[in-house]
Amino acid sequence: MKKFLLKDALKNNYAVGAFNFSTLEVLKAIIAAAESQNSPVIAQISESAISFMGEEYLKDIIASARKQCKVPISFHLDHGKSFESAKKAIEMGCDSVMIDCSMLPYEDNVSITSKVVEYAHSNGVFVEAELGSLAGTEDDLHVDDKDSCYTSPSQAKEFVERTHVDSLAIAIGTKHGAYKYSGEAKLRFDILEEIQKLIPNTPLVLHGASGVNPVDVQRLLELGVDIQGAKGIPDEFLKRASEMHICKINGDTDVRISYMIGILSNIEKNNKSIDYRGYLSAGMQEVARLVSHKIEIYNSKNRIK
Ligand code: G3H
Ligand code: 13P
Ligand code: ZN
Repeated sequence: MKKFLLKDALKNNYAVGAFNFSTLEVLKAIIAAAESQNSPVIAQISESAISFMGEEYLKDIIASARKQCKVPISFHLDHGKSFESAKKAIEMGCDSVMIDCSMLPYEDNVSITSKVVEYAHSNGVFVEAELGSLAGTEDDLHVDDKDSCYTSPSQAKEFVERTHVDSLAIAIGTKHGAYKYSGEAKLRFDILEEIQKLIPNTPLVLHGASGVNPVDVQRLLELGVDIQGAKGIPDEFLKRASEMHICKINGDTDVRISYMIGILSNIEKNNKSIDYRGYLSAGMQEVARLVSHKIEIYNSKNRIK
């Protein structure tokens, strides 16, 4: 049975954390944290993560993780760029797929998304699409250009009605990667509010939502990683968004930061031993700590009865 965890999140005002993985160790750490917090969780894979891990291996890993995980877990294709990519993820056992044609002309986005929705729904799989561009608050742009990056609420309503997507990723000032803001962090909660008023039954998704904790940035700098000037979304913004209609919050950069802090600091500590399991375990512990923290911020702790 495929899982759509966002319905309960919409009804009960919380967000499910969606964390990217590209290794079995990171997936296990995500699951351990969700279990320890008694929270639902989404484990997601990008197209490049699929090619890194290998489709056939991944198919078996998904099936096995699903069997072993003690809380509801759903597997999701992140940023699928084509119908074929979505179809492949469905065959691999994903519960939901994202079709991201937000960079294409609007009508192309509508038509490719609709095609994916038809195919996915006939296989019992849920679909996330995206409208708007994740350009952050674009500190250097003029006001008119800035506004064109954000999701238009009226277009969001029309898009959902025409495509029948199950959830919609919106652009309200977030951005992928570690460098989201050169100045003050900002999110357009006014746009979120307008969108949720127009499509109250559609769970909304926040991409580019890593926190890039300043303490972690400092730790990475001390470990020799060039991440000067990195800045993410403050926890209080994510908490507020999850109390509104943001029902899925994506994080990849934060997972990478935590994993690398664990690995690099352990390499130093253990004098560069050849037993890589020590490094990976330390990375897993940091990822689990991060995921547990996010689950608390998103108010999804103890949601499993
Ligand atoms: O939003 C994109 C994700 O961070 C995936 O990145 O293609 O390097 O796996 P990736
Ligand atoms: P971050 O780069 O902020 O972690 O965003 C990840 C994401 O949106 C994956 O789809
Ligand atoms: Zn994304």
